[in-house]
Amino acid sequence: MTEQAPTKVDMEKIVSLCQRRGFIFPSSEIYGGLSSCWDYGPLGVELKRNIKQAWWQAEVQERDDMVGLDASILMHPQTWEASGHLKGFSDPLVECKSCHLRWRADELAGSSCPSCSGELTEPRLFNLMFKTFMGPIEEEASVVYLRPETAQGMFVNFQNVLDTTRKRLPFGIAQIGKAFRNEITTGNFIFRSREFEQMEIEFFVKPGSDKEWFDYWLEERFNWYVKLGIKKGNLKLRQHMKRELAHYAKDCYDIEYLFPMGWAELEGIANRGDFDLVQHAKYSGKSLTYFDEETKEHVIPYIIEPSAGVDRSALAFLCDAYDEDIAEGELRVLLHLHPTLAPIKAAVLPLSRRDKLVALAKQIYTDLRQCWMVSYDDAQSIGRRYRRQDEIGTPFCITVDFQSLEDEQVTIRERDSMNQIRLPISALKTTLQAKLEGEDLFVLPPGGKIWKEGE
Ligand code: GAP
Repeated sequence: MTEQAPTKVDMEKIVSLCQRRGFIFPSSEIYGGLSSCWDYGPLGVELKRNIKQAWWQAEVQERDDMVGLDASILMHPQTWEASGHLKGFSDPLVECKSCHLRWRADELAGSSCPSCSGELTEPRLFNLMFKTFMGPIEEEASVVYLRPETAQGMFVNFQNVLDTTRKRLPFGIAQIGKAFRNEITTGNFIFRSREFEQMEIEFFVKPGSDKEWFDYWLEERFNWYVKLGIKKGNLKLRQHMKRELAHYAKDCYDIEYLFPMGWAELEGIANRGDFDLVQHAKYSGKSLTYFDEETKEHVIPYIIEPSAGVDRSALAFLCDAYDEDIAEGELRVLLHLHPTLAPIKAAVLPLSRRDKLVALAKQIYTDLRQCWMVSYDDAQSIGRRYRRQDEIGTPFCITVDFQSLEDEQVTIRERDSMNQIRLPISALKTTLQAKLEGEDLFVLPPGGKIWKEGE
């Protein structure tokens, strides 16, 4: 693939499209919303499901060296002592002595209080974990935390997975799930929120082979985004500087995306060394080692961790797909979403609401929705209906017209090119299947022709 020049899109346009079309709403909006919490609407939930499914398919289903896990969000509180989160997972916070607003000290460096110029307190460390109580008593002994990363679920289950799957090194455990952080500075829509979803892999390798696997995962994860349509020029790898490294990391790279506010982390890939297994062995008193059959020695595996955000991926895919062009003299907003990610794969559009047409269109719709998310739309002009589907990234529209009643053929129109062909209804499913899997778009049936919408 050739390198493309970076492109940036306006965040306001993305937020507006997401709200207008039902991708993402502010949480509890009727009460004025809850700061930096978001609800995924009917289309957003499909996009998110498709992202997670694509990740699971690539990293679990199609690999021999990976198994899945779905660990509890609430974990034994000692987990967070062992992991270092109780001590180390904090941001330095300053408070204005007059208006009592708080900021991250590192973000304010050099400037005075942004709102009222009041005097600031000395920085205090503020732990980012959400605290709650287990059971009916609110006392220190019953404190539990909402996990700030899914990763710890994999470390504490390392031995369980080893014992039950007979996996040999190198192998990984993958998990998708919610994580919570009481972030001080949130914003940029779903980029940084307090409740979010992660897709994480903990890949256990023999010490000494960690560098090789680290490089492997950098490439594998970078290419995952490219395969799903992100322009290469909008992605880059950035190595962490020493002072940026998390307390557990030996080395770390971010896959950065050119978001509307600039380059920012989409996914982090860290070499965690043996930090986690050593810590959990120490705190739990359990042995967390691996018996190497070749050397007849117990080793503590090193861990390579590709950690991606579902919400940040959704934002990147939306930004990258957003486009505007002129179609039939009017502005057309469209999402060039990869078919794998598109919330709706096809829309069935009867040309009129006449009974016979509706019956045929509904029959096609019922048949296709057994395989994919398909929508049915008979409201307003056909041009308007195409535009509605373009705007939400639906790759194909299927138009049922009066001729369809006679020749049992329908028109199928492709979103990006607006090319159309006529196709026997009997060939619709297999054709769509092939197109959605990325086969070259319009292989014509004998005697068929391609024409553009509006011709
Ligand atoms: N287990 C390692 C870990 O959690 P991280 O870099 O803190 O590493 C990994 O988080 C990914 O999770 C980030 O690259 C980002 O995509 C996502 N993420 C982290 N904090 C987030 C937040 N407040 N809102 C949305 N996504 C977040």
